[in-house]
Amino acid sequence: MYIVINGKEIASLIRKEIADEVDRIKKEGKKIPHLAAILVGNDPSSHTYVANKVKDCEEVGFRSTLITYDASTAENILLEKVAELNSDDDIDGFIVQIPLPDQISENKIIESINPLKDVDGFHPVNIGKMVTGLPGYLPATPYGIVELIKRYKIETSGKSCVVIGRSNIVGRPVSILLSQKGMDATVTVVHSRTRNISDILKEADIIIAALGSPSFVKAEMVKEGAVVIDVGTTRIEAPGTRSGWRLAGDVDFVNVAPKCSFITPVPGGVGPMTRVSLLRNTLVAAKRKQETTG
Ligand code: GUN
Repeated sequence: MYIVINGKEIASLIRKEIADEVDRIKKEGKKIPHLAAILVGNDPSSHTYVANKVKDCEEVGFRSTLITYDASTAENILLEKVAELNSDDDIDGFIVQIPLPDQISENKIIESINPLKDVDGFHPVNIGKMVTGLPGYLPATPYGIVELIKRYKIETSGKSCVVIGRSNIVGRPVSILLSQKGMDATVTVVHSRTRNISDILKEADIIIAALGSPSFVKAEMVKEGAVVIDVGTTRIEAPGTRSGWRLAGDVDFVNVAPKCSFITPVPGGVGPMTRVSLLRNTLVAAKRKQETTG
C-alpha cells in the first residue's frame, strides 16, 4: 500500500498556525505583515499564481498589495518600483513573479531586491545563505518539499535521491537542501543532457520530478518502495471542465503510485506547500523588521 501525501491538509494546518500568530500580533498592537507582489504581462499561469498569493494573504490576515504592469513595460520602470518597495517601511516583503517579458532581465531585477525583503529567496545573497546553511529565506517550493518530507517523517539520511531538473527555483535548491546536514541524502541531479535517466531513476529511493513534462516519470523507471515527489504543474487541455484545462504532474500517477511508499498528487501535493511557504517567509520578514525597528 502506498500513502498519498496530502499537501493540502498540511498547508491548511500551517496556514492556521500563521493565522493564530497574526491574531497575537494584532492583539499586541504590532504591525500586520504586508506582502507586495509585482506581476508583469499576461501569462495566465502567473496571473493564477499571483491571485492565489493574494488570496492566501487574506486568509491568514496579512495585508497584501498587488502591482500589475503590461507586457511592454520597460526594465527601468520595474527597477524603479523595486527600489520604491525596498525603501517602503510598510512593505515587509515582496515578490516579482517570473517569468518576466524578454525585454526585462530577470537576474537584474532579482539582484535589485533588498535581500531582507526577498521572501521568494531568489536573491544571490539568500541563495548563498541557503548553500552555506545560514538563516535566510528559502525558495518556496523547495521549502515546501522539505516540510512535507519532515511532517511525513520520511527517512532521507543516506538515501539516494534523484532530482529531475536543475532550475534555480526548484531543482537546484532542493538538491542542495536534501544533501545538507540534517537531511543527509545522497543527491543526484539529472537534466536534459543526462544520459540514461531511466537507469539512474531506477536506483533512487526518493525521486523529485521538477522538469515540467507531463507523465515523464513512468512506472518502469521507479524502484519498488520509492518516495516520489511530483513538482510538475503543466496546464493541459481538459474539455468538459469549467476552465477548459487541468494541471498535469511530471509523474504518471496512476501507474507509478502502486510501486511507491509515498507519492504526492497533482494537484494537492507540493503546490499548496509552495503557497504556504511564501506566507511563512513573509511572517519571518515582518518579525525581523519588528526586531530591528522596535
Ligand atoms: N514563478 C514560478 N514560481 C515562482 C515563485 O515561487 N515566485 C515567483 N516570483 N515567480 C515564480
